[in-house]
Amino acid sequence: MTNRTTLKLDTRHIHDERLGPHRLPPEDLEALAPRLRGILQEIATERAAGGHRFRDLPLERPQLQEIKDLAAEFRPTTDNLLVLGIGGSALGNIALQSALNPATWNLLPSDRRNGPRLFVLDNVDPVWFEAVMSFVEGSWDRTTVNVISKSGETAETSAQFLIVRDRLIQALGEAEGEDRIIVTTDARSGTMRDIVDRQEYRSLNVPDGVGGRFSVLSAVGLFSAAMCGIDVDALLDGAAAMDALVSPPDPDHNPAARIAAIHHLYMERGKPLHVMMPYSQQLRDMADWYRQLWAESLGKIRPADGAHVGPTPIKALGATDQHSQVQLYREGPNDKVFTFLEVEEFDCDSIIPRGFTDIEAMDYLGRSEDGTLGGLLNIEKKATELAMLASRRPSLTIRFPQVTAHSVGEFIYLYESVVPIMGRLMGVDPYDQPAVELGKKLTFHFMGRRGYEKSPMEA
Ligand code: PA5
Repeated sequence: MTNRTTLKLDTRHIHDERLGPHRLPPEDLEALAPRLRGILQEIATERAAGGHRFRDLPLERPQLQEIKDLAAEFRPTTDNLLVLGIGGSALGNIALQSALNPATWNLLPSDRRNGPRLFVLDNVDPVWFEAVMSFVEGSWDRTTVNVISKSGETAETSAQFLIVRDRLIQALGEAEGEDRIIVTTDARSGTMRDIVDRQEYRSLNVPDGVGGRFSVLSAVGLFSAAMCGIDVDALLDGAAAMDALVSPPDPDHNPAARIAAIHHLYMERGKPLHVMMPYSQQLRDMADWYRQLWAESLGKIRPADGAHVGPTPIKALGATDQHSQVQLYREGPNDKVFTFLEVEEFDCDSIIPRGFTDIEAMDYLGRSEDGTLGGLLNIEKKATELAMLASRRPSLTIRFPQVTAHSVGEFIYLYESVVPIMGRLMGVDPYDQPAVELGKKLTFHFMGRRGYEKSPMEA
């Protein structure tokens, strides 16, 4: 186990003089330091009293052995793993898989995959859903279903569960069909827990006090990761290493406090749009995961004054979105802060061969010292960063030496740890999501759920 962090936070292009009035002077961050110190102290105190439970996941590792044992038991009989979940019960699973397994994972023959194909069904679009159903048709006996719902009340997940269970039973009979279901839900309450008890399903727990979007490092994200051969110990080691870095109440050496402070100060200065732009296809879905974490945690009515506050997180992908978004990012409203994710060393690289040496527009690519696809990608990142700077657009970079389970664990934990600090700075509770409820209740009403006869719009 390595207990050192490897990610690097580069904030040069926040403080650069070339940003003019859009520069964040280091003095402004220093001025916020006493408040940040107080916040970090409060969080440490609350954590000692049982708050901020997600912070303890990589240290306490609840059910880790059980998760591994269950994965070891099911892997030999599983060609397809279906994860049924949505929001915080899906986005982390997707992000881990795309960061740490090849993009072609599901297309590979089984002897070149260290685990089953993974389908995370986080939507109820019937065409998409049935495409997966018809793919697994005929191999239900080698399909495992992980239903994930902390509340056990989510309409999308429940609907999928009913369909998939029905297909399993039709294909395999009741006993064998039900045996292929593993439920991850609250340990004690909720409809899914009642169903687990009644049907005697295998189950894992969403740890107490850990909300969906903070749960990827629990059984929620770890079971599918373990099934798909991801080194879950290294993931948790990375998170634990980051815990040591973001726990001390010294804001000057705490990257979570620094990221929170930068975003908070820029929000106060007219930059509420936060673009996360990985220059790594592997990290693309991490930006999706971040988008939920940021939006659901920080977009709130502030109790103190009733103001509607919150950053709008935006996902972009380098270099792809240079050809889609960068025009706006450079010449549109200067209301954004950019966070680039950069990878120093890719798992593999493709050398660009020399060709058409008499045509300079081709030849420079293979002739360059950086003449690999990874080299080109990182040069494009640098070029975009400087182009943003030239347009006085502030950016910061999180640099991954490599994309590994350890560095991904660090990243997840770092960003999760930023959120309560941001919440405190902004005066909102990052752990609730009251505005999501009305839509859920209206869905229950329109679908005719008993107890919801009266439209919640009339309440
Ligand atoms: O972060 C959250 O709390 C939400 O996004 C939930 O994860 C999402 O609504 C799914 O909820 P549940 O796991 O209860 O089905």
